[in-house]
This record gives sequence, structure tokens and C-alpha cells, in this order.
Amino acid sequence: MISVTASLQLFDFHPALEDFRASVLQGLKQTPKRVSSAAWLYDQRGAELFDAITVLDEYYLTRTEMSIFRQYGAEIGDRIAGGALVEFGSGSSKKIRILFDALKDKGKALPVYVGLDISKEHLQASCEQLQGDYPELEAIAICADYTQPLELPDVFRLQTRPKTAFFPGSTIGNLEPDRAVDFLSTVASLVGQGGGLLIGVDLKKDKSILEPAYDDAQGTSAAFALNLLARINRELEADFNLDQFRYEAIYNETAGRIEMYIVSLIDQVVMVAGEAIAFAAGERLLTEHSYKYTPAEFRGLAGQASWEARSIWTDAEAQFMVMDLVVV
Ligand code: AVJ
Repeated sequence: MISVTASLQLFDFHPALEDFRASVLQGLKQTPKRVSSAAWLYDQRGAELFDAITVLDEYYLTRTEMSIFRQYGAEIGDRIAGGALVEFGSGSSKKIRILFDALKDKGKALPVYVGLDISKEHLQASCEQLQGDYPELEAIAICADYTQPLELPDVFRLQTRPKTAFFPGSTIGNLEPDRAVDFLSTVASLVGQGGGLLIGVDLKKDKSILEPAYDDAQGTSAAFALNLLARINRELEADFNLDQFRYEAIYNETAGRIEMYIVSLIDQVVMVAGEAIAFAAGERLLTEHSYKYTPAEFRGLAGQASWEARSIWTDAEAQFMVMDLVVV
């Protein structure tokens, strides 16, 4: 479905309710229980809660990445000037604005912009705002789960301008490393030989910094995870009692990842879309993994998908990095 509001084209490939039901049930029937895709966490409320996470004191990722874009904006902006840019998980589009501003400061042309996100309301609002603030921008919005095989509309594929993918936020960390390689390969074929990828990656660091970033004092991270149960209740006629579950985030140093769980406080049976799902006291439901990398590890991973690193930018404390990759 394509709808045009003002001058924004919106392509809607939002997964159907049946996909959500099938995926949730499949994950709940596995041992251990898991959420099949982190994308399900981002309904409208989930997207709002995630935005609240990004401004928490403990969640250093967003502000650190933004500081890198601000500090090196002129240089990073050069990689996308006058090209065609596709952003995966564009969310509230705060980061791309820093690069657009850097381009405007230098009198350089903005790229054609394609924003892709699972959260439709969020995507549409932020793309409309982008267009309002940058009247010269040609913007296209595509609502889709980009971790699933996806054919981008020809509007991007057939661009003759140099193509770059933009994947900030360390969202790549949600994918298991082998899936991350698959995803990076898909992106490589999308932008083609000589095409680019600007990607934000969270770096390995001490547990004492990592764990609070995913389990903050205010309970926003917990609310973000538990919102999934509320969403399942709303959309799949389920009866999760949110008071009978808690949230947990632990850093698995061996695997190099944060593991996020919803933990059942008691023995209980929950009805989900007409099916009975039993939880034992203490049983965990995995909601997300968030992988952390060293620059060398990530360069190796990207290399398996035919990407070569052109530049790496980090903050002074080396908490986060932005890598500029090119398809070789
Ligand atoms: C959107 C995947 C980058 O892993 O830091 C944050 C998701 N979940 N807190 C991350 C998340 C809970 C976030 N990413």
C-alpha cells in the first residue's frame, strides 16, 4: 500500500497481525522461551519507551554516538553528499539531522533519503518533520521489518547516485553474529559495488557500565521489555499479569552480549491467542540480545559480507564507534 501525505511517500509493508501471533506463539513454545524478533518490541508505545531509554543517564549509547556525529559531521557527511541514502530503523531521525546540518553548513547537496522503520506512526511523523525542516529533501518512508528479507522499492534500487546505507544506534547488535553477516550481505547487494555503509556499533566495555545501561534505576528498560506482554495482551487476546513478571539484564562476557529477559515470579499458566503457555517460577523469556564488539571483531564480521572499513570514528573514551564501510 502506498499513501502520499503532503509530499511524503509512505510504503507500508508492516507485518500482519497473523505474523505477530504466529511468531509470538512459536517463541513461547520453544525451550528456552524467546521472542523471535526484537522488532516486536516496537509498537507505538514501545517506540516511545525506547526513545525514553535513549535519554537515560545510564544509556550512554545514543548521546555518545551523537557526539561522534557532531564532532566528525563534516567528514562523515561528505560520504553521503548528493547520494542516495537508506536508513534502517530511522526511528526519530535525530542522527541523520546532524549529518544533514553538517552538509548544509558546507553548502553541499543533501542525499535522496529513504527511511525504513517497523513503527509506522513514528516513521511517518519523523519523515514529515524531516521534510518540513529540510524543504529541499526528497524523502520516502517505508514501514517494514528490515531484518526480514525485503525488496526495497525501485525508488532506491534504481537510483544512479552513489548509494549508502545508514544503520546507526548499534541495532546490528540485536542480531546473532551469523544473522548479522547475512544482513550485512543483503545491504551490500542493495548498495552494490562501491556503495557505502555508515554503521554505529557499541564497543565492549566493563560490565559495571553495560548492565545499568540495560537496567536503569528508573525502570524504563524494564517497562520497555514488559510492554511486549502488554502488547500481546492487547493484540492477541492474552492474559499476562504484568505484576507476576520482572525484568533482568545480564552481561554474558564469554558471548560478548547483554541478555535481556522477562522472568516469571511464580508458577503460572497464561492464555495467548487461545493457547495455554505454562511458566515455572524463575523461568525466563529472552526478549533481546545486544552484542558488543571490538573494532577488530566487527571489521572481521563485516569482511565476511564483503565490506572493507574505510574509516573508524570513536569518542574519547572509546565507548562507541561509527564505521564507514565500502563494498569491495
Ligand atoms: C536498539 C538494539 C540498539 O541494544 O542498545 C536498549 C535496544 N533494548 N535497551 C540496544 C535496547 C533495551 C538497543 N538497540
